[in-house]
Amino acid sequence: MARHSRVSASKPRDDRWTIAARYHERTKHRYEQFARSPERLDWENEPAAFRRFAGAALFRLPLPAGDRTPPYEAIYRTGSIAPQPVSLDALSRLFFYSLAVSAWKSAGGARWALRVNPSSGNLHPTEGYLAVYGLEGLTSAPGVYHYAPEEHALERRCEFAPGVWERLAAGLPAGAFFVGLSSIAWRESWKYGERAFRYCQLDVGHALAALRVSAAMLGWRLFFLPNVADEETSRLLGLERREDFVEREREAPGLLAAVAPGGEAIGPLSFRLNKEAVAGAAAGPWFGKANRLSPNHQPWDVIDEVERACRKEPGGPPEPPAPPHGAQGAAGADGAEAEFRRVPCGKSAGRIVRQRRSAAAMDGETGISRGTFYGMLGRLLPALSDSPWDCLTWPPFVHLKLFAHRVEGLAPGLYALARDGRQTEALKAAMKPSFRWERPADCPSALPLFLLEERDVQVLAVQLSCGQDIAGEGAFSLGMIAAFEGVLRRCGAHFYRRLFWEAGMIGQVLYLEAEAAGARATGIGCYFDDPVHEVFGLRGQEFQSLYHLTVGGPLEDRRPLQTEA
Ligand SMILES: Cc1cc2nc3c(=O)[nH]c(=O)nc-3n(C[C@H](O)[C@H](O)[C@H](O)COP(=O)(O)O)c2cc1C
Repeated sequence: MARHSRVSASKPRDDRWTIAARYHERTKHRYEQFARSPERLDWENEPAAFRRFAGAALFRLPLPAGDRTPPYEAIYRTGSIAPQPVSLDALSRLFFYSLAVSAWKSAGGARWALRVNPSSGNLHPTEGYLAVYGLEGLTSAPGVYHYAPEEHALERRCEFAPGVWERLAAGLPAGAFFVGLSSIAWRESWKYGERAFRYCQLDVGHALAALRVSAAMLGWRLFFLPNVADEETSRLLGLERREDFVEREREAPGLLAAVAPGGEAIGPLSFRLNKEAVAGAAAGPWFGKANRLSPNHQPWDVIDEVERACRKEPGGPPEPPAPPHGAQGAAGADGAEAEFRRVPCGKSAGRIVRQRRSAAAMDGETGISRGTFYGMLGRLLPALSDSPWDCLTWPPFVHLKLFAHRVEGLAPGLYALARDGRQTEALKAAMKPSFRWERPADCPSALPLFLLEERDVQVLAVQLSCGQDIAGEGAFSLGMIAAFEGVLRRCGAHFYRRLFWEAGMIGQVLYLEAEAAGARATGIGCYFDDPVHEVFGLRGQEFQSLYHLTVGGPLEDRRPLQTEA
């Protein structure tokens, strides 16, 4: 594998990936200069917190009566939870434990909502959609609904003509339906400028993992559909209907996923949407007009450009081979799991998911045990943990480099985790030759974790994370490095988005794992890209750091927090 690959090293097969690679370079934070963003926050144009469609019928979802969710640990093992029948109540729970408002915070006379899924700057660019058959409590006709978190309700956007649904769902198991995600880049670019496209994709990843976990609580499975083109997602969800949106507040297609409520596997790699059915859905009738989020907008052309370049087109390069999952050989995975000796946290999945919060500050004292640390990292390996990884169709491209500060029984220093053991050698070849690559004490054999360098890395972690103390005052922090240039070249520019989704999903699992361990996490989107690469000896664009995160003991946030049931 070439160590010094450059973006322009050889003629690309599809040069859209070079647009993504250039965007990535251009939006790096550097010590001497942050990525371009507004010089000051334009409060007059702060985007409204919630999207609504005026004129669309609103169907309030029943708030779950009591916590009927399984023990937290069960969500990681497919087949361990009995499938629930599809009903309005069950759909309510799907959203209540994934994209809903979970608390309200107030300070200085302002009050704002916090959600089950985290979001960079709490700006929530991600919108959720549902395409489903007729259900008691909704309309009897199949159609498309937008999820409205503030009301915990579904807004009816489209009613399908007879026959459309049957063709859309052909090839899916009985009772299956679709969920979709979209992004309003303006929400993020209002604050973060050019780097906003990255944050939108990370947020999609968090939301996808949140939905997968929520589906798991109902005994359902959820599969991202990789061969659905963005144009089809747009038409199915009504996102291409220019007349329904303020121009600069349009929603870019994120992804379409199928939910299998019987708990069966579907073949996401072979699933294609029927063209006539998509045309039928687009023909409507459609209801409602999107609310205006801001009076004025600052355009960021580079985001429009990268969004276009990274669209998933019909056809395109073949999908990479499906990854090995925990279920690959249940016995093998179970044996490897036994090595982790995890102690159940004693809380329900619903409680962990709804209590999740970001730590605004870490206490600089609380540590976690070595066993807890290994246990958390084990959840990130598709070979050991079915969910949420079974909703993706590609092998792990994102790995971890860790800054261990307060992991009891583990030397402080730099570590590396290959999320797929077969990638260890590639990581080793790409990183500093002086690194030790030693197995830490008692590390489960199934966890490809290695000590690279032993030293105090607290100051370094803070410095690399834009000077944010949370990176050094937790028990550990980390950066997620993705196999980058090779993946974009081989798999296409749309994989630029998917790499961030994978990173966002890792973030979501670590948020939950931190809560289960009595600690707290915070995602870190602000870090100095190339200085991070330098510390690990990574050159060129073979690997790139896409997201950071910290886990530790939180300092109490004194701003009043009111949780929703
Ligand atoms: C992609 C992403 C990037 C983030 N980056 C940072 C960051 O650099 N610094 C920070 O303090 N918090 C960061 N956060 C945490 C958000 O500020 C937090 O999720 C948001 O305020 C909502 O709060 P909640 O997580 O408690 O719901 C990030 C979150 C996400 C999802």
